Amino acid sequence: MAWMDARLPVTKMWKDHMAEYYAPKNFNFWYFFGSLAMLVLVNQLLTGIWLTMHYKPDAEQAFGVIEYIKRDVPWGWLIRYLHTTGASAFFIVVYLHMFRGLMYGSYKKPRELIWVFGMIIYVALMAEAFMGYVLPWGNMSYWGAKVITQLFGVIPYVGDTLLEWIRGDYLISDATLNRFFALHVVAVPIVLLVLVFLHIAALHTVGSNNPDGIEIKKYKDENGVPLDGIPFHPYYSVKDIFGVGMFMLIFLFIVFVKPDLGGLFLEHDNFTPANPMVTPEHIKPVWYFTPFYAMLKAVPDPLGGMIIMFSAIIMLFFLPWLDRSEVKSIRYRLLPFKIALSAFVLSFLILGWLGMQSGSTIQGYMTIACTFIYFSYFVFIYFYSKNEKHKPIPERVTH
Ligand code: HEM
Repeated sequence: MAWMDARLPVTKMWKDHMAEYYAPKNFNFWYFFGSLAMLVLVNQLLTGIWLTMHYKPDAEQAFGVIEYIKRDVPWGWLIRYLHTTGASAFFIVVYLHMFRGLMYGSYKKPRELIWVFGMIIYVALMAEAFMGYVLPWGNMSYWGAKVITQLFGVIPYVGDTLLEWIRGDYLISDATLNRFFALHVVAVPIVLLVLVFLHIAALHTVGSNNPDGIEIKKYKDENGVPLDGIPFHPYYSVKDIFGVGMFMLIFLFIVFVKPDLGGLFLEHDNFTPANPMVTPEHIKPVWYFTPFYAMLKAVPDPLGGMIIMFSAIIMLFFLPWLDRSEVKSIRYRLLPFKIALSAFVLSFLILGWLGMQSGSTIQGYMTIACTFIYFSYFVFIYFYSKNEKHKPIPERVTH
């Protein structure tokens, strides 16, 4: 080890980030999802590599090769379902991880950068999932890719050129499949890995927030160890392994028993090959995109819809500066904040449901109402947080 440490400070790194990295001792359920996101990322990378060994990014062969992987490649079905279920699990875990941030004000000073890196991860993840979904070359892959790439075509002046540049053709074709494959298996995963590294590096620079939303670094013992901190290893490494166990129970149940989850994780229209001549009866993306898809559909003008949809994501980037309150955790904030956050989350969930529906008139009105509530949250938080009254904030973490 001394030989190693003289050349690469492995022991120091282990201490700095594990054995002597002090995390608040009051982490709860909501603090499982960061490590679970890492677990799912590793799952996606490993199963992705093995899928790539058999997959062919060729419009003539792609659909058939997925069936071949499931039926003929030894354990191919398992690898494929780990990857497809992993995609949905990634978004479930990341949404819960983000919700924790909203509840405990984890995006606030000094953790703005952790949040911004997180948001860039979220956008990269959406791009990754979208391109991955095109690869099986099912009918929904094809039409989903057509609808979403078409969005760029509505941008004034550059739209047509941009659309052709993205697709590599006038329509979704073999060229599109090829470039999406390259981006999905090489480019975006590298970007994601770098971003996750930066996310954690930023986190370890300032230290974790906690359910009380107070800084544990304020009170330290004579050795500089936070009084309310415990070493990450073994305490949280063991706790996180417990979280992994619980997660695996649910995750593997879906993988083994119901990998399509009734059309939610794998859409039924994607079990038929891509057909440019036949539109699926109801084009819709996978569940994790449907809240934004609902917003897109709510506006009759495509450019307007696109602006609303992208704004819904961009607004989240600015939360650290929109929320000006001195209190972080929901525990010490008053009822108006709790109602606003609940309304925000509820509107997002209802939009998710609406995005999956065929769209009746009443659903159209509901979409407009929920979109309004979604955006109102940001306006509310900006004005409300300026002189926000709150419950007394404790000095030390509570149990
Ligand atoms: C691949 C995706 C991601 C991975 C692997 C990841 C990983 C982690 C890990 C391991 C932690 C520390 C443990 C924890 O607090 O749960 C963390 C903290 C954090 N993450 Fe992420 N994260 C991801 C995506 C995101 C996204 C999309 C956001 C928000 C936009 C985000 C925001 C945060 C914040 C604010 C913290 C600090 C939380 C606190 O201290 O209370 N992360 N992340």
